[in-house]
Amino acid sequence: MGGGYEEYAFIADLYDHVTLYRDRPDVQFYVEAATAAGGPVLEVGCGTGRVLIPTARAGVDIVGLDLSPHMLAVCRQRLKEEPEAVRGRVHLVEADMRDFDLGSRCTLATIPFRPFQHLITVENQLSCLASIRRHLVDEGVLILDLFNPSLDFLVNRPVGEELDEEPPFTTPDGRQVIRRQKTVAIDRFQQVGHYELIYYVSHPDGRQERLVQAFSLRYVFRFEAEHLLARAGFTLEHVYADYEKNPYGSKYPGELLMIARQSRT
Ligand SMILES: C[S@@+](CC[C@H](N)C(=O)[O-])C[C@H]1O[C@@H](n2cnc3c(N)ncnc32)[C@H](O)[C@@H]1O
Repeated sequence: MGGGYEEYAFIADLYDHVTLYRDRPDVQFYVEAATAAGGPVLEVGCGTGRVLIPTARAGVDIVGLDLSPHMLAVCRQRLKEEPEAVRGRVHLVEADMRDFDLGSRCTLATIPFRPFQHLITVENQLSCLASIRRHLVDEGVLILDLFNPSLDFLVNRPVGEELDEEPPFTTPDGRQVIRRQKTVAIDRFQQVGHYELIYYVSHPDGRQERLVQAFSLRYVFRFEAEHLLARAGFTLEHVYADYEKNPYGSKYPGELLMIARQSRT
């Protein structure tokens, strides 16, 4: 259910080395939002700490929630390299974003890099938003980070083919990795894409491995997201097309980055 992250340790092991993830231009945006909110921040689907650790380094208290013990283990390992002051600002929780109770509140909740799209049903989407809302202070802010569904991608993306679109990368222990992407199927009625990320790993001793992360993502259109947020008790403040805060519509497809405030009850 959670994108394979909780089942397969290899995903967490390779995650921080994937060029597309390393180069993702969102970290500064999240660090600035966290600093402006002043903390504490809740990061839902924090993974290996790609965003969480820079946030803690910037002096903000942050709770990281993730379903995958493997992703959290990598995050803990990375935190060991950090000064005690940084480690002291971080609290990690293994929990399901669909329903959680941390017994604390935050001024800002974030879901960086699309974990919300692992939720396939409206029921799950709403229960996740309700859980987040319970953890926000009055007027607290949610940053919901989605991809903007590209109609060209949905219609024309080859199905069943492994596409070689990413630069290869090398892990610190010398494994050379080529990652290919495959669209297995797109269900245009359920708005769900079924995908595989296929890692071809060449070990320094010559051994070869083929590892597959199979996962499904629900695509969500702009006004659908607005309605979901309204149903869940949020007031939309901004919709951005990217992490430089260019307005939605200024590029296509761009991101679907929604900034919403918890409405007072
Ligand atoms: C693409 S990664 C993003 C990680 C991190 N936010 C980042 O920006 O690098 C998606 C993360 O969502 C987590 N996830 C997926 N489903 C989840 C669920 N139901 N509850 C909590 N975390 C979940 C996965 O374990 C994974 O760490």
